[in-house]
Amino acid sequence: MLRQALLALSASNRARDLIMANPLTRDVVQRFVAGEAADDALAVTRRLLDDGLLVSIDFLGEDTIEPEHATAVTEEYVRLLGELSAAGLSGGGRAEVSVKPTAVGLGLAEHGEKTATENIARIATAARNAGTTVTVDMEDHTRVDATLRVVTELRADFPDLGCVIQSYLRRSADDCASLAMAGSRVRLCKGAYQAPDGVGLAVKAEVDQSYARCLRVLMDGPGYPMLATHDPRLIAIAASKAQLNGRSADSFEYQLLYGIRPAEQSRLAAGGAQVRVYLPYGDDWYGYLVRRLAERPANLVFFLRALASRR
Ligand code: FDA
Repeated sequence: MLRQALLALSASNRARDLIMANPLTRDVVQRFVAGEAADDALAVTRRLLDDGLLVSIDFLGEDTIEPEHATAVTEEYVRLLGELSAAGLSGGGRAEVSVKPTAVGLGLAEHGEKTATENIARIATAARNAGTTVTVDMEDHTRVDATLRVVTELRADFPDLGCVIQSYLRRSADDCASLAMAGSRVRLCKGAYQAPDGVGLAVKAEVDQSYARCLRVLMDGPGYPMLATHDPRLIAIAASKAQLNGRSADSFEYQLLYGIRPAEQSRLAAGGAQVRVYLPYGDDWYGYLVRRLAERPANLVFFLRALASRR
């Protein structure tokens, strides 16, 4: 119930304006977000890389409705990739970027898919010049088909373009099977959105089982699985599956969100695994923050306590 209410709140413009205008919430946000400027993202990236972690940077924002805004977001990514390269942080894919299709135009009233494809191609070109890669985030269930079409089209020119499968969708095991091919970078997550009954799985245990099923499909295939979860049971399943299949440490990676289970991030990396931290930055942090709060009541308590303690 609480999760549903918070996810509904993540789409509320009024709540968004109220919360974003409150300077106290901004402090709390810094637990999950690098900061508002690209320089903040660069500084945190440098620290994470020094700690032996990999990074995927997300410029926060989604549901762009103006073509000019989609272009501005694209240009921010291109600039960021140039700065990462100049700072020596992107070579070998150490720091890559994650892009939300609706941030670069997928949801535009006209030519959304074409615009998103062109904009992601520009970002992927900049990433290639910087010696790194792009992963295309997955958003709500109404965007899945279009997003997979965009990724499939772009992979002809950018075979290392990553995509995301969400285990809460009933279709996911089939999608994993068709994406589990050589060179295919696939991030597997549970999914941060809601879907109607016939489309999504409502029960958490079913979402977890679906994750384990998808994980097996990806780890059995010749692709490059990117296992995005904080769930200790699923991380343990991944580790034993890697061992069973004789997968080398560089043939897959774990991914966790910035600010969540940092000790586990270090533990996995110290054990020789590749661990990538998803690092958001930018001033449009509202939807991202509320989805994190919805996932874990403890985050919500942390948030409310921080607000109260500053009064
Ligand atoms: P879940 O939330 O069920 O938590 C499972 C367990 O993990 C908990 O019981 C607890 O043990 C531990 N845990 C979780 N949060 C914790 C915390 N704050 N502190 C301590 N322990 C904690 N979603 C999407 O729809 N599209 C996308 O493109 C992406 N991309 C993405 C990238 C990366 C790198 C990650 C890690 C996640 C995403 N997501 C995403 C979000 C994802 O779908 C999901 O909403 C969150 O990762 C939460 O799911 P978990 O797998 O962590 O499980």
